[in-house]
Amino acid sequence: MTDKKTGMRKGLTQYGDAEFSLYLRKAFIKGMGYTDDALDRPIVGITNTFSGYNACHGTVPQLIESIKRGIMLAGGLPVEFPTITIHESFAFPTSMYMRNLMSMDTEEMVRAQPMDSVVLIGGCDKTVPALLMGAASAGVPAILEVTGPMLPGSHKGERLGACTDCRRFWGKYRAGEIDADEIAQITDQLVPSAGTCGVMGTASTMAIVGEALGMMLPGGACIPAVLADRFRHAEQTGAQAVKMAKENGPTPDKVMTKDAFRNALTVLQSIGGSTNGIVHLAAIAGRLGIKIDLDEFDEIGRNTQVLVDLKPSGENYMDDMHKAGGTGPLLRELSDNLVLDAMTVNGKTLGENIADLPPPFEQNVIRTKDNPISQSGGMAVLTGNLAPDRAVIKHVAASPELLLHTGKAVVFKNMEDLVDRIDSSDLDVDKDSVLVMQNAGPKGAPGMPESGYLPIPKKLLAAGVKDMVRISDARMSGTAFGTIVLHVAPESAIGGPLALVQDGDMIKLDVENRSIDVLISDEEMAKRRANWTPPPPHPGSERGYSKLYQDTVNQAPDGADFDFLQAVKP
Ligand code: FES
Repeated sequence: MTDKKTGMRKGLTQYGDAEFSLYLRKAFIKGMGYTDDALDRPIVGITNTFSGYNACHGTVPQLIESIKRGIMLAGGLPVEFPTITIHESFAFPTSMYMRNLMSMDTEEMVRAQPMDSVVLIGGCDKTVPALLMGAASAGVPAILEVTGPMLPGSHKGERLGACTDCRRFWGKYRAGEIDADEIAQITDQLVPSAGTCGVMGTASTMAIVGEALGMMLPGGACIPAVLADRFRHAEQTGAQAVKMAKENGPTPDKVMTKDAFRNALTVLQSIGGSTNGIVHLAAIAGRLGIKIDLDEFDEIGRNTQVLVDLKPSGENYMDDMHKAGGTGPLLRELSDNLVLDAMTVNGKTLGENIADLPPPFEQNVIRTKDNPISQSGGMAVLTGNLAPDRAVIKHVAASPELLLHTGKAVVFKNMEDLVDRIDSSDLDVDKDSVLVMQNAGPKGAPGMPESGYLPIPKKLLAAGVKDMVRISDARMSGTAFGTIVLHVAPESAIGGPLALVQDGDMIKLDVENRSIDVLISDEEMAKRRANWTPPPPHPGSERGYSKLYQDTVNQAPDGADFDFLQAVKP
């Protein structure tokens, strides 16, 4: 390692004398007991995303140990360093609000500290996109290792797991079908081990999409967090990171190309993945100067079948997908739809990795194209006078009878208004109504929370109503289900048409024709727009991160990233 730009010589602190900087740096790191031999090796950074607040990352210390073993066996020097970590249930106001901060932390720490390559340890929903966004911007060779899914739990002989079953049982509790004692017992079983949510939520989606993007060694997306296989994969990841350090590549821009994003979008459609996946992919791509075309995503969906039988679209858990072979058999089945010469982090193309897969065996989780879960992809992109810059619906998890529906709007001004009135006996709502929530987008909420899964009003639940058309500029957990239109853009807080909808307006959803419209005239729309006033600023948004967020967050089609973090076009 004699190149001045590698190892300990990389990114020297500026004292005005490079040799002095190196001498001082070595003196300090030697204070931790390193020898000159160790310090002369390629350095592999490891992001330590452990936190006592993040159950999904509970195994990170053991993963780091395995990654370090792989790095040292391959002749490198591992150096772990902390980054922000985010758990879905422990981030106020919402984890999405923190994602861009984590990406900035990752980018700057990877760039500021000497490392020839970096292993990114992600898992819980926002961590994988944040790490990939940061790594894409930093430009250092990077490889992804995920913590892996949790194992399923069991309640009265039934398998269950976070978080599709969380919602299902909570719905039963709200409807009075189960009591407080039983819901408490269920809480003990929903997260039975460390690891990420075990259904096709955002974490599973981003893990599989990360593998399809080429940023992870083959086979890594679906291995449960607590299995020995996971730690073996981590060891191999460490060894591969040393190879990448020695060869100075591939860098993220060589792996996450336009072709790789097309592959990721195809896989996202074929797994019935989380709607969050499209927002995150747009943000990651934006860091590399690539624009995700939502209409292309829709076209991919029309030509891609859902092949993975996992909750919430199907029946199984990630543990089952691992036993069925993980992402590999899915990629093989999708071969005709993929760009096979896209490069991956192991230096092989996606097609070469598929060719290296073991022979197929009989299983019932990853379907063949002649026996799909759904004839089209999981998501559709909508447009119309309510969402001129597009909206998204996960139609594979919707009620078929509601995919063409016209109903009267019941409008909630924001999340607080929803909480205050949704269960009121006075609410003028029936099973055909369309629930609309405003001001829950990137700027409006802020942070575009997963509040798009508007609850069914209690009085309708009691009458047996299980689903209604619901519309917002918010996001939805990938573990949720229902006829739910999300990511309406432009968002209502900046004056998008969603802000102009009033109680009693008729709204028409037509998924087959990809349209979402409020049935009022252009003149009426213009009149309402002239009278519209923006919502008041959020408390605290005059300073700090909140101000940065409000001033610079862009809209869902661009990934709800900060505008200044996107790649600067030459
Ligand atoms: Fe972490 Fe679901 S809460 S993956």
